[in-house]
Amino acid sequence: MIVVSHRGPVSFRREPDGSFTTRRGSGGVVSALAPLLLGRADVRWIAAAIGEDDRAAVLTGAAAGVDGGVELLALDPEVHARHYDVISNRVLWFCFHGLFDLAREPTFDREFHEAWECYRSVNQSVAAAVAEAAPEGDVVLVQDLQLLLVPGQLRALRPDLRISHFTHTPFCGPNSIRVLPDTMATEVCSSLGGTAAGFHTDRWAASYRASASEILGPDTTTHAFAATFGPDPDALAAVAASSEVAAAAAALDERVGDRHCIVRCDRMEPSKNILRGFHAYEELLRDDATWPGRVTFVAELNPSRESLVEYRDYRSEVETTAARINDEWATSDWEPIILDTRDDFPQSVAALQRADVLLVNPVRDGLNLVAMEGPLLGTRDPALCLSREAGAFDLLRDHCLAVHPFDITQTANAHATALTMEPAERATRVAGLRDAAGARPASAWLDALVSYAR
Ligand code: F6P
Repeated sequence: MIVVSHRGPVSFRREPDGSFTTRRGSGGVVSALAPLLLGRADVRWIAAAIGEDDRAAVLTGAAAGVDGGVELLALDPEVHARHYDVISNRVLWFCFHGLFDLAREPTFDREFHEAWECYRSVNQSVAAAVAEAAPEGDVVLVQDLQLLLVPGQLRALRPDLRISHFTHTPFCGPNSIRVLPDTMATEVCSSLGGTAAGFHTDRWAASYRASASEILGPDTTTHAFAATFGPDPDALAAVAASSEVAAAAAALDERVGDRHCIVRCDRMEPSKNILRGFHAYEELLRDDATWPGRVTFVAELNPSRESLVEYRDYRSEVETTAARINDEWATSDWEPIILDTRDDFPQSVAALQRADVLLVNPVRDGLNLVAMEGPLLGTRDPALCLSREAGAFDLLRDHCLAVHPFDITQTANAHATALTMEPAERATRVAGLRDAAGARPASAWLDALVSYAR
């Protein structure tokens, strides 16, 4: 079996003496699949070398054999940057998450069309590497929106293979896919149309089917399926028991005291809707004079994709908004928002343990694992305020408080309801959240990808 993803399960760091050390690769795809697949003699994992150090490790031969079965591809840096920054992150990510400000963006100019060539070419390099490595009739599991063209390109090179593709983001519906240039929309839908195309929820699978029908014609046959996974409760429990988390938890307790805690943990990402979360918190403080001084908002936000101006601008707006709210509301002994952008995993786990309320309010999200990790880690029966636009909402809707991600007043009201919920109701709801979160092992999801492959 061959797994293909953009980020690989290992990444390399060049040390001052010129040697290389390895770390586990980051991201949701790797954390779900790596524990199941690494070290299996029958599995090969092909991914892109990300960044200079990965590339150097490949080009110097240091990457060969470091982790059996993993092959990183050293792509042309300029071509790879346009594939990732421009097409994957600025165009496809924004399109699938409904983030375009259509009065201004996107504009498809010469530079865009050249970048689309780069996306095609990176996908072709990946498809060629898989075609070369795959034994006759093998199963190939292609992951996510950076590699949407691989199924079609690979099918052309190796019709004997059984292929599935899984998109970890949402998929957009017909009105949004029509925003993409015609060739791009057609190539994406044709590539996925010829294979099994998986999504975290029926909703994204239906959006894909409707888009494929719009772009390729109403008689188009698709092979869409929905399958998903939750966190591994045992792995989370092991992390939670570490001394680093205990130290972070003690430091947070010191800072927050006995106040109620609203927590969010996200990448610093426009789709996560961080600004409206702060605005809702401010509305809560303004509307009910009993809350100022009695509640703290802890925001663990990991910087992401900082090569893009959209992400740098968003980060700056988030930081400015948090600072303004703190300036306006802070007292000598109360910090309304604790904003942490250090990308500190133990600190994020400690915050999730301390939450009374967990806010997960994305504009749109393929799944959102934090919505499931939070209840498993929480030690105070946290109430979950969850956007109805997150894929995880379909799994957790009976036990969470639904949030309309654009309605700030409704979000503020959900916070108030969560903060004042009776202990018995919180306990019942969190038990439901934990059952739902723990009931979807990644192994079952992996089995689905294999069984649907065609
Ligand atoms: O949500 C889809 C996803 O690919 C996750 O697997 C990943 O954590 C996230 O997007 C960020 O991806 P990247 O940092 O590789 O662009």
